[in-house]
Amino acid sequence: KITPVLMAGGSGTRLWPVSRKSFPKQFAQLVGEETLFQASARRLSGEGFGDPVVMTNADFRFIVAEQLDQIGITPQAIVIEPLGRNTAPAILAAALMEGADDPDRLLLVAPSDHVIPDAAAFARAVQAGAGPARQGRIVTFGITPTRPETGYGYLELAGQGEGPQPLARFVEKPDATRAQQMLEQGNFLWNAGIFLFSARSMIEAFRAHASAYIDPVQAAIDGAHTDLGFLRLARAPWEGLGNESIDYAVMEKADNLTVVRFSDHWSDLGGWDAVWREQLGDEATGIVADGRSTAIDCRNVLLRSDSEDLQIVGIGLDDMMVVATSDAVLVAGMDRAQEVRQAVTALKKKG
Ligand code: GDD
Ligand code: MG
Repeated sequence: KITPVLMAGGSGTRLWPVSRKSFPKQFAQLVGEETLFQASARRLSGEGFGDPVVMTNADFRFIVAEQLDQIGITPQAIVIEPLGRNTAPAILAAALMEGADDPDRLLLVAPSDHVIPDAAAFARAVQAGAGPARQGRIVTFGITPTRPETGYGYLELAGQGEGPQPLARFVEKPDATRAQQMLEQGNFLWNAGIFLFSARSMIEAFRAHASAYIDPVQAAIDGAHTDLGFLRLARAPWEGLGNESIDYAVMEKADNLTVVRFSDHWSDLGGWDAVWREQLGDEATGIVADGRSTAIDCRNVLLRSDSEDLQIVGIGLDDMMVVATSDAVLVAGMDRAQEVRQAVTALKKKG
């Protein structure tokens, strides 16, 4: 059985003000009935999957436990990283822990903040990747790109065809010029941020490309203690770790990557424009307003109030988003969604 490893430690600042430091986007109900985290856990709970390991931090531990409980999923472990050190150490920790049990065990690392409506299609893609993963490949999942997005990783295909194929190159978060080039070149896919591999091959990849992580992460595991059912990794060795995503630390350097195409709908909800697009469904433009919001003579707007006490009325708005919570309102142009991240950084400085 494949062990799902759910990454739930990020803070998702581009979806401020709904996504907050103490309650980031993966735990919010953004589209659909369940939270993104719950939908991700459910997607990885069917046949062929074992109980999930959740990698998170102390702030989110009770949210994680509660949201899993609500949907009847029992985790194998909820692992608490003492400090946010990005995805590289978290993924290595999962590989070392699972690998101690069985080095050949397959792990499927998945973000907890994506929208993938067709769970069956996703399960088929995972099945297609299982063979190469058992043979020691690190399997990535590729999405057909539709715009020169700079927030994603790009996967350069080595050949043609539909089946799993070796990757020529992994390019994480290119600048705008590079992204445009890769889009035009046509032999690049977006990295979905989902990885399938055996514990052994991920540990070997770290040994080859990011070996400084191995001893401290192992020490954090050896010094871990259980607290109210959560597994707390030891703080001291974790503090000295680099702060790097798996994409930079390993994927850009590894030479044993395979890509499986995922042709069904996928979105990482990387901004309010993406949430808006997601809720529009098949339409490319339109109005998305929740029950508390009214749009009069508007085009291409997102009006969303997460506060019972707050109604939004938009009149004559074009290409705008208004997102309100009980203590903050975001008003922005639809094409400025990515700048919310900078705004949050600026707010933090203001204190
Ligand atoms: N446990 C844990 N600890 N999880 C973390 C941490 C951490 O320190 N930091 C981030 N995460 C979680 C996030 O919550 C998210 O679910 C996932 O790891 C990926 O992190 P992001 O910060 O969202 O990465 P990204 O979106 O910039 O880039 C990645 O995803 C893209 C697709 O959405 C990369 O893999 C890109 O190559 C990829 O295209
Ligand atoms: Mg992301």
